[in-house]
Formats: sequence, structure tokens, C-alpha cells
Amino acid sequence: MFPQRRLRRLRRTPALRRMVAETHLTPDDLIAPLFVREGIDEPHPIGSLPGVVQHTVASAVREAGELRRLGVPAVILFGVPERKDAEGTGASDPDGIVQVAIRALKDAHGDDLAVIADLCLDEYTDHGHCGLLTPSGEVDNDATLDRYAEVAVAQADAGVDIVAPSGMMDGQVAAIRDALDEEEFAEVAILAYAAKYASALYGPFREAVDVEICGGGDRKGYQQDPANVRESLEEVRLDVAEGADLLMVKPALAYLDVIARVRAEHDLPLAAYHVSGEYAMIKAAAANGWIDGHLVAMEHLTSIKRAGADLILTYLAREAAEALA
Ligand code: PBG
Repeated sequence: MFPQRRLRRLRRTPALRRMVAETHLTPDDLIAPLFVREGIDEPHPIGSLPGVVQHTVASAVREAGELRRLGVPAVILFGVPERKDAEGTGASDPDGIVQVAIRALKDAHGDDLAVIADLCLDEYTDHGHCGLLTPSGEVDNDATLDRYAEVAVAQADAGVDIVAPSGMMDGQVAAIRDALDEEEFAEVAILAYAAKYASALYGPFREAVDVEICGGGDRKGYQQDPANVRESLEEVRLDVAEGADLLMVKPALAYLDVIARVRAEHDLPLAAYHVSGEYAMIKAAAANGWIDGHLVAMEHLTSIKRAGADLILTYLAREAAEALA
């Protein structure tokens, strides 16, 4: 006779369900983004990211200590400089905000915390693009690579463990690897934002880092078209060939198929970025009482891991690690 109740038998009790769970989220899977702002005396809340702040260097060090205590192995830093200019000078300044924060975090936490630095120019440029502009206003790929190399060396010099290039210039991983090796920073790893889409889900992040793209522009000339998945596989292959140590897909939930395809094809550690808009949507709906925000958060993170991600960059890191403790 057809076993009608076969699948429900193992869903009957919490212990049975735990026994057969295929995916287990742990604090080890989480990477917490931290925004560090130059020239402030106390943390500033970010309106569109409830619970997330722009940190001072001191408050970032304290927050990292809490995360570490909860078992989160890594943070990724984003800088908010006091002054912006056409070349994004602050990104590679030895006294720029991210370099100062890297030194403070490594001084306080040493090798108990992996410090990752987002490597891009958009937070530092007055035009808001991820690279240098040509006189006609195009993003200049190769001139930007030289700047990325300078940023990588400045971050490495400050003691960063991993640099994470997010600008989607062609050849950025190779340019950064060459620069790091040439300056004897062979131990610094590269987390490549390998498949990064031109997504509308980055909106709250741009408030967090105070970025407005000039002339109401967008990043469609360098970030990927959400319509494509084979193109992502090509992006990832090139980044692997150029020397990436870890791979990333971004955003996460609308791109679970991309995560699964990259996982199937590659054996390097794979991260996914649950981005600002994904976080903000949970918080906004929960604030209206329309969903149970915490349950949805854990469901999102579990799904991203189930799709094949080993690591998740998420503003939920602290909340999730507390729940998993
Ligand atoms: C670029 C960068 C962005 C994010 C991470 N790195 C913004 C962009 O590409 O426009 C977005 C992260 C998020 O939305 O949480 N430096």
C-alpha cells in the first residue's frame, strides 16, 4: 500500500525535526558589516537600517568584541569619510577612516577576529561611482584598477586579513593580487564580490555610507543585469583564475539560483551578501506587525545556506548569533 504518512512521521516532534535537519546555521557562518564614520563622537543611527549604526572607531571595536563573544568570526568594514573627492583619496590614505579602524580592531582583537575591508571607491568619491571617471563621465576601468591596487596596499599595511573588492571592474582581482604580492602582502586574502548585480536592494546602504550617484545615475555599466545567470558563472571563473580566495554572490535571496550554480561549479568558500534592502524589508514589515521579523530573518539566513553559501554577510549577524548561542 502507498505509504501515505511516510514524510510526516519525522516532522512530529522538535527532536525528530532537529535530527533530520539538513541545514544548520551557526555563528561561524556569519560576517557582520560595520560602518565606521570619520569625525563623529558617538554612533549615529541609520534611518533605513533600524538597529544598525555608523560607528566611531571606539564603538566599532566594542561591537566587534560583542560579536566575537557571540562566536562571529569576522567583520567587514565600510568607511564613511568626512571629505570626498573625484579620486576617492580617503580610500587609500594611511590615515583614512578604514585604515584607522583596521589598526584599532587588530590591536584590540588580534587573530581572534578576522577583519575584512570592502575595497571600493564609491564611499570616497564625490560623484558616487565605484571608479575614476573619464572626462566624458564614463567609469574608466583600467585607471580604476591602479587606484584599487593602492587601496589594497593601504588596507594590507594597516593589518587587514582579507580585502573584498566590490567595484566590478574587469581584472580587479588580478590587479589587487599583483599589488599585494609585490608589496610582500602575500598572506592577505581576497574575497571577490564575483557575481554582483545592479540591484535596487542596495538603497538603504547608500544612506548608510552617504552615497548619491551623480546626475541620478546608476551602476548598470559595471554591475550585472539581474536577468543573467550564465554571465555570473563567467564572472566567477575569471575571478578564480585571477586569484580569488573566497567568492561572493550579491544580493542573496533573489539570487539563490546563482548561489546554487556557483556552488555546483566551484570548491572555494562561497559567501552571499544579504544586503541592506533585504534587511530593511524584514524590519519594516515587522515594525508594522505584518510578519514575525525574527522568524523571517532566521528563515532567510537558513535558505541562503541551504542554497549553498558557506558564509553570509548580514546586518542580522548579531541578532542571529544571539539566537543561536
Ligand atoms: C560598493 C558596495 C555596495 C554595497 C556593498 N559594497 C553598494 C553598491 O554597489 O552600490 C551594498 C551593500 C548593501 O546594500 O548592504 N562599495
